[in-house]
Amino acid sequence: MEPFRFHLFLCTQQKPEGIPSCPASGSLAVLDGLDREIQARGLNHDVQLTTCGCLGLCDEGPIMVVYPAGVWYRRMQASDVSAIVDAHLLGGKPLDRLIWSDAPAMKAMSVEHGEKFRNAMAARDKAGVLPDRLDQMIRGYMPSRCILTALELDIFSAVGDGANAGEIGTNIHANARAAGMLLNALVSLGLLSKSGDDYRNTPESARFFVQGSKDNHRNGLLHTANIWHRWSTLTDVVRRGTRIPIDRDQAPEWTNNFIAGMQRNAKDRAPLVVKALGTAGVRRILDLGGGSGAYSIAFAKACPEVLCDILDIPEVVPLTAEYVNRAGLSAQIRLRPGDMLCDDFGSGYDIIMLNAICHMFSEEQNQDLFRRARQALAPNGRLVVQDFILNPDKTGPQHAALFSLNMLVSTESGASYSESEYRGWMNAAGFTEVCRINLPGPSSLIVGLVR
Ligand SMILES: C[S@@+](CC[C@H](N)C(=O)[O-])C[C@H]1O[C@@H](n2cnc3c(N)ncnc32)[C@H](O)[C@@H]1O
Ligand code: FES
Repeated sequence: MEPFRFHLFLCTQQKPEGIPSCPASGSLAVLDGLDREIQARGLNHDVQLTTCGCLGLCDEGPIMVVYPAGVWYRRMQASDVSAIVDAHLLGGKPLDRLIWSDAPAMKAMSVEHGEKFRNAMAARDKAGVLPDRLDQMIRGYMPSRCILTALELDIFSAVGDGANAGEIGTNIHANARAAGMLLNALVSLGLLSKSGDDYRNTPESARFFVQGSKDNHRNGLLHTANIWHRWSTLTDVVRRGTRIPIDRDQAPEWTNNFIAGMQRNAKDRAPLVVKALGTAGVRRILDLGGGSGAYSIAFAKACPEVLCDILDIPEVVPLTAEYVNRAGLSAQIRLRPGDMLCDDFGSGYDIIMLNAICHMFSEEQNQDLFRRARQALAPNGRLVVQDFILNPDKTGPQHAALFSLNMLVSTESGASYSESEYRGWMNAAGFTEVCRINLPGPSSLIVGLVR
């Protein structure tokens, strides 16, 4: 028996520009529309929507096949979605005007396409052409640089409800011709739309990049823009072995952007960490390098009896104070300006947190932190490390392996570490039980318990 009443396979095979494909004919908009309609009509328990690779009928795309009956649709557009949902998924009767049922012609086209594709691939291989996957990876900096520059210049806010290149250029104090070229590239990336001379934000750009929007991520993303400049030093850093100072490090907004970037990552993860650790028996928490205070704030919100101390460097503590005050939790969260590498931690804590901290430091510095944390914990206290944890051979997961380079270019001696390294440091510091808790997303927890 089929687990779903209908199973939709929609082709979303990306192909190089200029080659016919379903995405080039609008299948991503169809996908978005189907997803919305299926949810909106309450069909998600009856209909399974799956994207699939090329079906060999690219000139007739977007192509979708609906099972169990095996009905093939061609040249679907987003504007057809509600008619298909009405007729086929709700009414049980396929939408005649888009059905393609000439099986012999479809098979011939698909077989011919497959042969052409294999021949083209063989010819490219013989000629020694760089595979698309490598080419895309190598040029990956282009879209990244476009969007980071747009964020640095605050272009999306300047576009507002719609403006032309001249108006936007003036607004961001930029050269009109250059601004126009950047705006056009942003349209090509799907981050703006253009009608006549006017540019508009897409719903996504309006939501995430425009000043005043509730979900604006720009401030946090400016930290990524700052780090981009550090990554440009990678070649020299690999030769030299450690970070190279750059002018941008001195920018007055650097710390602000850094902490906003940290808050952007932490605010959604913090409730997951609280849930994973629980609050039973937890009264005092030390949040080392607490940054925006997101984790202490989540604990304080979850449990009014919890008192948190956040220790961070003096430049950051005023920013932490803003986040804590905004959350109305200054009675539960105390701020301690200082240096975790040498300050006395105090004693009697039930939890000491090192969220996104260990990757900043060397092995020796982390071992010392763990030893001092062990001394500051109460009986049954826990040391909690949250970080991107490497596999034993340190070649993955990819995020952790790349992040290790992020720390190479940004710090004196930081890196990503493996679970066995964390376990070894915890055991050496006297933690009797050590466990790993995986969370959704790229970081995990390593928790050491003191008996
Ligand atoms: C990567 S951020 C993590 C912030 C926060 N724990 C989070 O996960 O959102 C590192 C934090 O450690 C702080 N920090 C770095 N070196 C420190 C030191 N020696 N002593 C105290 N805090 C430090 C930074 O100011 C920053 O707030
Ligand atoms: S790309 Fe969709 S059928 Fe080929």
